[in-house]
Amino acid sequence: MNIRIAPSILAADFAALGEAVATVERGGADLIHIDVMDGHFVPTISVGPLVVRALKRVAKVPLSVHLMIEHPDRYVEAFAEAGAAILTVHVEAAVHLHRTLELIHRAGVLAGVALNPATPVTMLEEVAALVDQVLVMSVNPGFGGQAFIPRTESKVRAVRALLDREGSRAPIAIDGGIDRDTVRRVVEAGAEILVAGVAIFHAHDPAAATRELRALARGEQVT
Ligand code: DX5
Ligand code: ZN
Repeated sequence: MNIRIAPSILAADFAALGEAVATVERGGADLIHIDVMDGHFVPTISVGPLVVRALKRVAKVPLSVHLMIEHPDRYVEAFAEAGAAILTVHVEAAVHLHRTLELIHRAGVLAGVALNPATPVTMLEEVAALVDQVLVMSVNPGFGGQAFIPRTESKVRAVRALLDREGSRAPIAIDGGIDRDTVRRVVEAGAEILVAGVAIFHAHDPAAATRELRALARGEQVT
């Protein structure tokens, strides 16, 4: 199991995003998670390709872009050109998901699929072979700082079982309410990529919080 920590800049200071990225990289962040929200698929409006492009200039680690937007096909190219390494689309927002995943791959980017808490795991069945990552939402998307939905734990197990059945080694990312209390059990359930916003950026020392989350994910003792 290859545990990766993906700090979500949604909880960072937007007036100092470059510094936020540098800080968590010092703490050993493996990826930077960027939440793109359109005010339609989710109520919030956040950032677009311009911010991804700006962060690409300063980030040393890959940018993982979580698209919480309607009509994701329209924006695949823009985010790929901006420097996304992974583009994750919601199954609930992609009417022609198969085509969307092909578009992402054709743009030279890894393709992820995200599932809302109410979306059944079976939605993945026909596309399992095409996905490079499955992102399981452990809160309803749209906001940082929400409480982890406990049922997600068994959902992660079910996603892992489905991927294994389909012969896919794609990692599972988990997003929402991941902190020192929840991280270990989602890893035990099969999550490998741990997205965390508030738990990292609202901490007194985000670099230390990144290191601590990784240690806890590995089941190490943290004082
Ligand atoms: C929620 C976003 C998350 C968010 C997680 O819609 O997809 O990435 O930043 O925030 P925390 O870790 O604070 O729950
Ligand atoms: Zn996210």
